[in-house]
Amino acid sequence: MAYGGYSYIDKKYEPKDDDFIVLFWLDGHAPVEKLAEAVASESSVGTWTKISTMKSKVFRLYRARIFKIIKVTKDSGFVYMAYPYEHFDDKNVMQLFAGVLGNLFGLKELEDCYVLDVKLPERYQRQFKGPGAGIKGIRRYVGTTKSKRPHVGTIVKPKVGLTPKEFADVAYKAWLGGLDLVKDDENLVDQKFCPWKDRFDRVANTLDRVEAKTGEKKLYATNITDSNIERMIERLEHVKDSGMKMVMLDVFILGTPTVMKIVDEARKAKLFVHAHRAGYAAHHRGNFGINFGIYEKFWRLVGVDQLHIGTGVGKMEGGALLINHFHRIAEDYHIPEKFYLGSLGETWWKKIKPILSVASGGMDPGKVEAAVAIHGKNVVIQAGGGVHGHPGGTLAGARALRQAADAIAEGISPAKYAKTHKELRDAIKTWGYVDPDTVKAKFAFEKGMKRKMLEWMVLKKGLKGIRAIWEEL
Ligand code: 3PG
Repeated sequence: MAYGGYSYIDKKYEPKDDDFIVLFWLDGHAPVEKLAEAVASESSVGTWTKISTMKSKVFRLYRARIFKIIKVTKDSGFVYMAYPYEHFDDKNVMQLFAGVLGNLFGLKELEDCYVLDVKLPERYQRQFKGPGAGIKGIRRYVGTTKSKRPHVGTIVKPKVGLTPKEFADVAYKAWLGGLDLVKDDENLVDQKFCPWKDRFDRVANTLDRVEAKTGEKKLYATNITDSNIERMIERLEHVKDSGMKMVMLDVFILGTPTVMKIVDEARKAKLFVHAHRAGYAAHHRGNFGINFGIYEKFWRLVGVDQLHIGTGVGKMEGGALLINHFHRIAEDYHIPEKFYLGSLGETWWKKIKPILSVASGGMDPGKVEAAVAIHGKNVVIQAGGGVHGHPGGTLAGARALRQAADAIAEGISPAKYAKTHKELRDAIKTWGYVDPDTVKAKFAFEKGMKRKMLEWMVLKKGLKGIRAIWEEL
């Protein structure tokens, strides 16, 4: 079943270690084999018709090979493709995106086209430096290497609108209450009511005062996102010259080349990079889309140090199994292949350091224990509303969040800890408590025979089945 005169299906093909493997969900107006041929052609060497310039050498060396199809209906299914290493430029992520995440989405015979995963060969990974600091580096700086407690932070709210002085006052209370991190929101950079430099200088000054008072190291993730790269670099240099340690980037919005440039500059300046993923969901949630985990792999590869990945218990999409999978992409060296999650797995090259996952979006102190059941302790738990909405205000909200993290470090349930810690108790009274056993039950369900049930559901329902598992478990 050829497309444009050539066939890309080769079920006998055994992928090589150096191949890039891509997993697609396809549905459309033609048998799935034909859809797969179209995608393989458009994303590698072919076009809609036979061409006189297609040398047999080109087709043999550089084409994508469809080595497995798992049909769900006649016209839909999961398609596994292998792309030869030589198909892609060295260290040019955008050329890879233009191929496997590019033109194919526009093919008119497709009704669904979702790229579930891209597996990156070690040889490719070796061209990148990965994070400069990652989990170990940030923990060392904050002083939590021994305690291994989750880091806690806040996003100053309202998202925009405060003056630099008001912003710095909120930051002061948040740090004084015990938070490790204060950050700008994704849509705050340099508005007239809160110019970046004025805000930054005031917050830097506040940070010095709080560190002197508390004896703890604090971080401020200042959003330097801008359409003008020179301006971003000027801000980064100002951060370095002020002796501060972190910059924040809206990584999806900025695009990979800008992120790579700024990460390089940050690495030279010994600054950590906090990555906000705003905008990712435009790709991740549709029937034509790209899974967030793919972006996440590239962001770890190019070297951000901590990254928003969702929570599993808060306001953003994604249930426990999916967010745990994203967490593993951030922290682990070996991520398992799980068909029912759309995961091909991954093995990171040993020099690509683990990064901190950031659990953010609708968090509050009563959700910390459940979030830790999903992410583990190598996580930054961030709450905006869940700190500044505390009945006692920002200072009490910050105390409550830190108390929850301290409880985890001491091996005590925050629910129990709340009996002797008023701020935490008030937070739980306000927003309730998410029982971590509800999360643990989902992981227990995943195990053993239940795994087969999940696979069966995906084989019956295709992408809809995977989405149900992503959301409900
Ligand atoms: C984020 O940056 O993740 C959000 O601003 C989180 O805000 P929230 O804690 O109030 O949901």
